[in-house]
Amino acid sequence: MSEKLKVLLVFGTRPEAIKMAPVYLELSKRDCIIPEVCVTAQHREMLDQVLELFKISPDYDLDIMQHNQDLWTLTSNVLYRMKTIIEKSNPHIILVHGDTTTTMATSISAFYSKVPIGHVEAGLRTYDIYYPFPEEINRVVTDCVSSYFFAPTELSVQNLVSMGANKNYIFKTGNTVIDALLYTVNNHKSSLGMINLDKNLKTILITAHRRENFGKPLENVCHALLDIVKNHSDIQVVYPVHLNPNVQEPVKRILGNQERIILTKPLDYAPFASLMAESHIILTDSGGIQEEAPSLGKPVLVLREETERPEAVEHGTVKLIGTNREKIYSLVDKLLTDNSFYSSMAEATNPYGDGLASKRIADILEQNRQNLISKNNIHLKSPLGQEN
Ligand code: UD1
Ligand code: UDP
Repeated sequence: MSEKLKVLLVFGTRPEAIKMAPVYLELSKRDCIIPEVCVTAQHREMLDQVLELFKISPDYDLDIMQHNQDLWTLTSNVLYRMKTIIEKSNPHIILVHGDTTTTMATSISAFYSKVPIGHVEAGLRTYDIYYPFPEEINRVVTDCVSSYFFAPTELSVQNLVSMGANKNYIFKTGNTVIDALLYTVNNHKSSLGMINLDKNLKTILITAHRRENFGKPLENVCHALLDIVKNHSDIQVVYPVHLNPNVQEPVKRILGNQERIILTKPLDYAPFASLMAESHIILTDSGGIQEEAPSLGKPVLVLREETERPEAVEHGTVKLIGTNREKIYSLVDKLLTDNSFYSSMAEATNPYGDGLASKRIADILEQNRQNLISKNNIHLKSPLGQEN
């Protein structure tokens, strides 16, 4: 058989792992492709939970996570340590995902090594360099040095076209998060794991971890939750608390040992998906949850001022509400007391994908195999502002 295409997938955090796992599983089925996985382990426990669920044993593990790490150390560690991995693996293409520091620093490392990059979940934008920070610039930098753009929606395609990316290499694939969600729901028995919900109460699920919300905004959110529980005796709040110490400290201080507020460790993805399905309302500043929850028909209140995922806002299932205590309280109160308002948000529509995104990405790589193997790809580089 002719030479196989070697694809190195690099990721480091929980959401990247969730969204790259189905791509890896799909590539593994193809006879003409050799997929390898390198984890930076920007996250450790939260990454390992996902690797175990999808039964992925990484070929390389940089194990770089440090307690309360800063962006400078993280960036330089990934950038430098990926050099050796790229030399050892010697891939024809490197796939990265989304907008984390692992993604951005790996892309620069791959660029220095002149290995083409395929960016999964390319083209998301708020057009505000500090919001979300540093993710907006992470994804812009990654798109600047990518050769293949796997864009989840039409809007992300348009963002890439406006930036001057080569139209012939922008592919609208849908978001692989839907593939991951469907895989998990179909392959893992529904269970809430260690969570013991009171079936007589409605559940509000909350997650929050964005850097913009550290300090006062996150404290406001916690106080709003206290107000909600105090004024609605039929409500319980479940909060799987992100392991970032900037989240752990205020959440445990304000919400620890409060009646009908359950704080847990981050949940494995399968129980978390079940918990989303069981919930009445979801509050979050997460990117991935904004994409998953609409397909479960759950109203989502987003604890941010801006989003790079406006599609579900336009569909009506997601509302951007920020972190003002009174505003959070009044919108949750409205959802709890106004049935028609609740129904208007609880429609199961999903603008993000149909569960086949990973298959499309694998098909595209297979079709471009000869070009990539013969390194006939330098012309794909797309400088900013290029005319298409
Ligand atoms: C990172 C990403 C963010 C993404 C989020 C998903 C960057 C700059 N940030 O933010 O875009 O939305 O992941 O969750 O890339 N920690 C642990 N164990 C873990 C994970 C984290 O203890 O398994 C703690 C460590 O103290 C670590 C800290 O959390 O230093 C922060 O982790 P880091 O990846 O830098 O930032 P996140 O806030 O997780
Ligand atoms: N998630 C999980 N367990 C949890 C909380 C979230 O498995 O306790 C999943 C969630 O379903 C989504 C992803 O983690 O797929 C989102 O990750 P996160 O919010 O950390 O990052 P973001 O998407 O904001 O980058």
